[in-house]
Amino acid sequence: MGNLEAKQRIDALRKELEEHNRRYYVDNRPSISDYDFDLLMQELIQLENLYPEYISEDSPTRKVGSDLETASSFRQYPHKHPMLSLGNTYNVEELRDFDNRVRRLTSEPFTYNCELKFDGTGINLLYVNGILVRALTRGDGTVGDDVTKNIRTIKQIPLRLNEGSGYPNVFEIRGEIYMPFEAFDRLNAEKQLNEEQGFANPRNAAAGSLKMLNSADVAKRGLQCVLYHLIAEDFDIAEHSEALAAAKRWGLPISEYSKVCDNIDEVIDYINSWDSKRRELPFPTDGMVVKVNRFSIQKSLGYTSKTPRWAVAYKFKPEQELTKVLSVDYQVGRTGAVTPVANLEPVLLSGTIVKRATLHNADQMKLLDLHIGDYVYVEKGGEIIPKITKVELSKREPFAMETVFPAKCPVCGTPLIRDEDEAKFFCPNTENCPPQIEGRFLHFCGRKAADINLGEATVHQMFERGYIRHLEDLYSLSDLQLLSLDKWKEKSLLNYRKSLQESRKVPFNKILFGLGIRSIGETTAKNIASRFKSIDALQKATKEELLEINDIGEGVADSIMDFFKVEANLNTIAKLKEAGLQFEAVGQATVSDELKGMTIMITGNYSIPRETMKQYIEAHGGKVGSSVTSTTTYLLAGAKAGEAKLAKANKLGIPIISEEEFYRIAYKGEGADHAGRSSTDIVIDSGNAVPITKTEQIKHDNNDEPTLF
Ligand code: IVH
Repeated sequence: MGNLEAKQRIDALRKELEEHNRRYYVDNRPSISDYDFDLLMQELIQLENLYPEYISEDSPTRKVGSDLETASSFRQYPHKHPMLSLGNTYNVEELRDFDNRVRRLTSEPFTYNCELKFDGTGINLLYVNGILVRALTRGDGTVGDDVTKNIRTIKQIPLRLNEGSGYPNVFEIRGEIYMPFEAFDRLNAEKQLNEEQGFANPRNAAAGSLKMLNSADVAKRGLQCVLYHLIAEDFDIAEHSEALAAAKRWGLPISEYSKVCDNIDEVIDYINSWDSKRRELPFPTDGMVVKVNRFSIQKSLGYTSKTPRWAVAYKFKPEQELTKVLSVDYQVGRTGAVTPVANLEPVLLSGTIVKRATLHNADQMKLLDLHIGDYVYVEKGGEIIPKITKVELSKREPFAMETVFPAKCPVCGTPLIRDEDEAKFFCPNTENCPPQIEGRFLHFCGRKAADINLGEATVHQMFERGYIRHLEDLYSLSDLQLLSLDKWKEKSLLNYRKSLQESRKVPFNKILFGLGIRSIGETTAKNIASRFKSIDALQKATKEELLEINDIGEGVADSIMDFFKVEANLNTIAKLKEAGLQFEAVGQATVSDELKGMTIMITGNYSIPRETMKQYIEAHGGKVGSSVTSTTTYLLAGAKAGEAKLAKANKLGIPIISEEEFYRIAYKGEGADHAGRSSTDIVIDSGNAVPITKTEQIKHDNNDEPTLF
């Protein structure tokens, strides 16, 4: 490979891996399996080793994937110690390489602690004087989202440690929040009942649940926790396994599945003993973690920018099962893309029964050379529908029928087309092809879009009856039409009307996402909304201006330009505007109404950046004033507050409040001793961390408080 070619491949891999990281950590909807992701990462690592001139600190090989959202609804805090990832391997030889490396760098004898790798989402808990004071997600490894209130709903996590059990005054402990299979199945069954999209796997469900805004909802999700990494300064213990045993005595949830191994052979035996046994566990695991047990050796081995040198993850290859293909359906999505889906003889795979598997596209089908009745290997990737990885040719019947990709749309009969650089065939009949139209409605009504209370069956019936054709039709349905739908009564009608009313408050970025412009995902819609502020400005944008936005490449820019060329789309926008939907960004997306009706003037410095404070006020429904006037509700005075503003507020009798008082007001004015605990201030030294407020410290048993950031 020449230098230029290598550079191009490196750039492409970085971009692809970053996109997959975002889908995995932010959207909780990965589109490839962990295994395929790791293969891409391996390729990038190798290329960067071969061409060190292209190494960059910004590469996904050097930093952990980030779960931080573009406009986070959570308050963010820096981690006291960076929260890293683990190097991983799928084969035993590489485990031996790891062992050799450690031995080369270490002269003392040591043991390994070998543990199950729980497949959930990382968490960092901070305990001060035995009380849980803060829980942060991994975030980007440096800064995490504060999900304390949600974490407090997980029963296994003690709010107070066992009295007199010898815990250090201040310590952090890291672990995993995961969802057992039973809770996962229950959640997805419930979602199906509500005609909502389910989660692809328990990991995504756990990560998604942890980021919900209402902790009362989190409490119902059945999340669990296991902790595996103690960080304490004034604590005299020499080995990781002892630290975990101590943490267990303090009352913390520690895995019972681990073993101290004397050498790498023992590690490998222990790993092998789990290879099939792990399938009987009631929760998801994706491998084993091997850690050098002695802290002093861990310390001398240290860290790379992304992973510790003293630990490695051995990952289990994705599970596969053999089953029979009964038939193939060709599904038409809302964008017109046609996806072949195989109907299978039901088979149990990673804890759930699988009946269908995606074949992705025509090329993939050809590559597999799939025949009806074939026995195939199915595997779970990132998507909710598993995929077929291989045909077992030895089991093929002599006259099995080949599968042929249709030339026409299986629903409307229009000849399919395929763009040069697209893997998928499309039905170009966007205006009249029923599944495309229904798909557009379902997308628009989705929770991440206009959030209108309509499911698949109802949309289908509305369309069949000719009640809906363009998105705006949702707003002009008559009571008579609605009451004529199956199972619709007065109550459903009221709910629907209420839901339409609520959709008028949905922020612009979500409405923009709901329009279903090809290639515009949730994040891109957010980025566009915060850059252009209104649909009119977006419509006027030149391609060059669009390309300046993060995430937007040629394809996306073209698709935006194309969208505005279609008369029907312009008409829909005009009608939806008339119906009262938001086509302008009004500050940030609103998180709550806690500060509604208040005008808050800010002055001085806070423990969070001023810009974040402004966003906070707006996100909770308040206004940020530009000067102190008689209509100002509060003057929020931070350190080094402006003298003139303080004087003016005093003169006009405007209450002057501190940052801490402000958070208390934002918590609906609940008093500091609401939870009936002592309000002794706990001062935490966490580098440049934001000091936690009194209110947050003492609220341990109130699970349904409004979310602060
Ligand atoms: S140790 C610096 N132990 O796997 C030490 N991690 O793929 C880092 N994980 O980021 C973590 N089970 O979220 C460790 N027993 C275990 C684990 C574990 C699951 C997660 C963790 C980590 C990820 C790396």
